[in-house]
Amino acid sequence: MSATSVNMRFEPARRLSGELLAPPDKSISHRAALLGAMSAEPVRIERYLHAADTRSTLAAVQALGALVEIDGDDLVLRGPGLREAREPEGPIDVGNAGTLMRLLPGWLAAQEGRSFTLDGDESIRRRPVDRIVAPLREMGAQLQAREGRYPPLLVRGARLRSIAYQLPVASAQVKSCVLLAALAADGATSVSEPVRSRDHTERMLLRAGVSIAREGTTVRVLNADELALERLSVPGDVSSAAFLLTAGVLVEGSRLLIRDVGVNWTRTGFLRILRRMRGIVLGDLEEETEELLAEEPISDLDVAHGALEATTVSAEEVPLAIDELPLVALLGCFAEGETVVEGAQELRLKESDRIAGVVAALRALGGEIDATADGFAVRGSGGLRGGTVDARGDHRLAMMGAVAGLASREGVEVRGIDAAAVSYPGFLEDLAAVCS
Ligand code: S3P
Repeated sequence: MSATSVNMRFEPARRLSGELLAPPDKSISHRAALLGAMSAEPVRIERYLHAADTRSTLAAVQALGALVEIDGDDLVLRGPGLREAREPEGPIDVGNAGTLMRLLPGWLAAQEGRSFTLDGDESIRRRPVDRIVAPLREMGAQLQAREGRYPPLLVRGARLRSIAYQLPVASAQVKSCVLLAALAADGATSVSEPVRSRDHTERMLLRAGVSIAREGTTVRVLNADELALERLSVPGDVSSAAFLLTAGVLVEGSRLLIRDVGVNWTRTGFLRILRRMRGIVLGDLEEETEELLAEEPISDLDVAHGALEATTVSAEEVPLAIDELPLVALLGCFAEGETVVEGAQELRLKESDRIAGVVAALRALGGEIDATADGFAVRGSGGLRGGTVDARGDHRLAMMGAVAGLASREGVEVRGIDAAAVSYPGFLEDLAAVCS
């Protein structure tokens, strides 16, 4: 599948002010559709994200036998259940959606005697799937990836064994894949991560009546007869809101209120980093808890322009702010001192190599930034001149370029926006609504 590439220009903004509703969370939308399809009874999902990636998830569950009905802003989904996914006629197209590519095989691995092929766009075909192949094979499924590592991925379902799995790198996608497979395995499975990553799957499983608990960085889950979810409400996406918040902090004189943002502690690493940089962000953020919670907390976030100080982001913080790290680099250009991000080599495996992409983009705008083996170092240069950035078909680089344009002295042209890979469909309208 080839990308439809678009270019756009973003002029310096005078000030941003007003109130916006954060778009629905992408991670939680994917999980709601998958767990909804794995449930015994129909599930109503309120505020499902209608974007390219999450549409791919709906199409995938339909191909596997789920019925999907759109009811205004809600979605009603009746799935085939935990063990009855239908074998589709052709490959399942995940499009650009890495989360779908990594979570779905967890469910499919347990479909005894049925085979499934997952494929996607050019970017997906460059992103490794060996990290899910290893645990699923250990559980008893058969999998084949191109060159042992890349999509297309063939999954042959089997009767699964429970395992104790140690993740080599913290990844919510890989952890979730193992947890989904564990639901139909033969006992109790545990997954341990080097450091904590987002826990939406665990919370949703707890809500669905599954026996699941966390101790430190280990999650234990028991197999289940069925999932019992009735209604799910998707909170606003803090990763999307982060672009608006950054614009609010960087553009002089700004004051923005972003409503209904999901503030689950495992997703708000960026807000803690921003506050450490002396960014003014008011909101009722969830505290870190040892106990696993079933709810996804939300809060309004109020942000204002202000001077920033540099900071260092450590490896433990990386999974809690992984998708927002390009924004930390952008903020670093405006901060006093040197901002460093360490332990973030995972960024090279996202929709694009985000270390190379961020460094090239910010340098092209006059930023003083260097790539390191596992992240980057940015010297504050009192702002950015402007210029042209290549988004490399990566939605988050494109949105970073747009925010850089609003905060720059001369404006930014963003090239290489992949119109088919947008995670925040109302982004341009929302920016226009708060620009005066
Ligand atoms: C996601 C987890 C993260 C993140 C991705 C969405 C998820 O990936 O980068 O955009 O929904 O689980 P990893 O946890 O695999 O790094």
